[in-house]
Amino acid sequence: MIRSIATTPFAGQKPGTSGLRKKVREFQQPHYAENYIQSVFDSLEGHAGGTLVIGGDGRFHNADVIQTAIRMAAANGFGRVLVGRDGLLSTPAASHLIRKYRAFGGIILSASHNPGGPDGDFGIKLNLANGGPAPEKLTDDIYARTGTIREYRIADLPAVDLNKLGEGQAGGMAVAVIDPVADYAALMQSLFDFDAMRSLIASGFSIAFDAMSAVTGPYAHRILEGLLGCPAGTVMHATPLPDFGGHHPDPNPVHAGDLTDLLVTRRAADFGAASDGDGDRNLILGRGIYVTPSDSLAILAANARLTPGYAQGLAGIARSMPTSTAADRVAASLGIDCYETPTGWKFFGSLLDAGLITLCGEESFGTSSSHVREKDGLWAVLMWLNILARRRESVAEIVTGHWREFGRTYYTRHDYEEVDADGADRLMAGLRARFVTLTGQHGICRADDFAYDDPVDGSHSSGQGIRLIFEDGGRIVYRLSGTGTQGATLRVYIESHEADPLRHGLDPQQTLARLIDLSRSLAGIAAHTGRASPSIIT
Ligand code: G1P
Ligand code: ZN
Repeated sequence: MIRSIATTPFAGQKPGTSGLRKKVREFQQPHYAENYIQSVFDSLEGHAGGTLVIGGDGRFHNADVIQTAIRMAAANGFGRVLVGRDGLLSTPAASHLIRKYRAFGGIILSASHNPGGPDGDFGIKLNLANGGPAPEKLTDDIYARTGTIREYRIADLPAVDLNKLGEGQAGGMAVAVIDPVADYAALMQSLFDFDAMRSLIASGFSIAFDAMSAVTGPYAHRILEGLLGCPAGTVMHATPLPDFGGHHPDPNPVHAGDLTDLLVTRRAADFGAASDGDGDRNLILGRGIYVTPSDSLAILAANARLTPGYAQGLAGIARSMPTSTAADRVAASLGIDCYETPTGWKFFGSLLDAGLITLCGEESFGTSSSHVREKDGLWAVLMWLNILARRRESVAEIVTGHWREFGRTYYTRHDYEEVDADGADRLMAGLRARFVTLTGQHGICRADDFAYDDPVDGSHSSGQGIRLIFEDGGRIVYRLSGTGTQGATLRVYIESHEADPLRHGLDPQQTLARLIDLSRSLAGIAAHTGRASPSIIT
């Protein structure tokens, strides 16, 4: 039986960089998730009888909202739901399933790298038939609907048993509980040379992978320890936990500090990697070296031809605006285009759909390709392993060799987290008001607010981050986070290019010290936020 439940709008159900993301406690209010899911369904057209993929990263509250989403999908006319066993699907695996099974779209329950548990965050994201996040005009429409919603539709059904694989019926809709890993693992086998990687590992090449008690555990376990023959224990924190073991499931050198220490300080393995809450981010480490995500994108692009899936070469590359310009240099040498997009994965989707690019990435530990329409943590790990298996050099040799060829782009991101939102707005407004006066000072040759015109659909996005560009090509970029759930987070991105190989072995924070100081004084960070230094440096 389908019921219509009367409801009233909640303020602030505004999707950010990656869907609606709020504190768990907010999501636990009666009707909160239902209002949002109904607004999502109401924004769709032509979904009757279609397939919906549903899954999440296993965080606290996942199990409840999965059941709600299934019951609401049945009441809103979907013909079939594909749901991962135990309600689990990594974000890239969900993207692949949507594409492979020609689904109408998918609902992904995740707050990505944000902490979980009852005091943590939760999120709901809509992906469409291309496997990618819903575009801005649709999320704007969803938001508008959350402001006027009066009722939602839900089927009166018993909870679906998500532990058992197989297909059944729920309220006239087919519900298939599927292995979350199988299709994804098959996709990886179609892209990479598993024989070459197996022989690298059999030769004693050692790997440490940190799944951060999040969704990639089962994926990494099956692929690394199962298919590639890595020794048991290669995957650490392999069991997804509702609170991620109390940790922040964000694969950067700070939150994956133990792994970074194991590789960079103790030099205890040949290759190290980690992924985030929902499996779309990646951290890459070698013995004694941390590879910045911007460098990783450039290095994958330069070596892509060594892997079967990309042996034909790349159509083009895209990077988000704050990501370093290292990939641009590779694109130039390959004679292909490099697109600069606003932050957030959704902007890559139209370039990928149109076949203009093959690889894309962001400085925030996100890299991927045309195989899905999301970033993909394990994919990046396997691409690195495939390249390592072919080149038989260490990670450090590959990275320093890349710098010798293209120069090194020193790069750092300074985050000022959970600062006062009004102060952060004033800081940004203050910079915007001074574009003309700043130009010409301190070697700044251009100051602007980044805007983007999508070359495929013509859509225009403005206010995407303030850029100070220096005569020597250096940059300082300021933007406010669109994924935080408390106050505002100011992100400051700083980079400078160094062509001279004799100056490639320096410490990034020291090398960038002048620009770092300028980033603080020019914007008046301490005055506007009350913070003399960032809360996190990556
Ligand atoms: C952050 C990252 C951005 C990424 C997004 C989703 O968004 O900076 O690159 O696409 O998470 O993973 P932000 O909080 O900066 O808006
Ligand atoms: Zn994520």
